Amino acid sequence: MKDMNNSFELLSSRFSVYVRSYYSDDPEIQEAVILKERHSFRVLSNACAIAESEKFNADDMFAVKVSALLHDLGRFHQFATYRTFNDNVSENHALLGISVLSRESFDKMIPAGDLSTVLAAVRNHNRKDIEENLSARELAVSKVIRDADKLDILELMIRCFGPAEENPHPEYKFNLPDTSGYNPEITDLLSSKKKIDNKMRKNLNDFKLSLISWLRDLNYPYSKQSAVERRFADRIAKHLPGDSAIAQIVDGIKQDLRV
Ligand SMILES: [Fe+2]
Repeated sequence: MKDMNNSFELLSSRFSVYVRSYYSDDPEIQEAVILKERHSFRVLSNACAIAESEKFNADDMFAVKVSALLHDLGRFHQFATYRTFNDNVSENHALLGISVLSRESFDKMIPAGDLSTVLAAVRNHNRKDIEENLSARELAVSKVIRDADKLDILELMIRCFGPAEENPHPEYKFNLPDTSGYNPEITDLLSSKKKIDNKMRKNLNDFKLSLISWLRDLNYPYSKQSAVERRFADRIAKHLPGDSAIAQIVDGIKQDLRV
């Protein structure tokens, strides 16, 4: 137990050194790096809470902590290189993270027995669907990281939709037009409880609908409970057109979260 804590502390220090190497005098880069650095630590905290609620053992908890901290390792290089967090116009940041992980020798700091689990969790954290053929442990940890990541992004994005004075990141750019209406293909898929593809998002309302769809993709009871307590569905719906199709979707999701 003590050794595991020590090796996580070492890895966490190494992560901070790596992130600091991207600190910049350019305010656009600096804000983006800080945003993802803080996100990584909040995802770590969410992931620990989920894993504790599921009574993960110390070995699995260690794999969860390492995976959570490193899940967005690719984001720093991505923004410094492409000035965007949009994978569609740059690179898949999860796969970029995997290459940074080995290029920067983070993998040498991870015990051999945990490496495949950490790599699986990083690789799978942003996929529409989790890869098949993962081991039970890889799957369990990947699900924790996916939930922990979604919980943090949901809170952050919802705050960004609100008035400027309550927005913690006014500099954050959605890269989608804030036009009226939405893509009805998205509401059709949501009504039939199907997942939507990020490429279907054409305006900010489509993006908000895709966030609502994430609420169906939470794996653990702790995560669903947290989504209920933080009223994510209603808080997103407040910023969407108030028509009956959307109201039905929101009601359905709220019911599913409570089951
Ligand atoms: Fe990510």
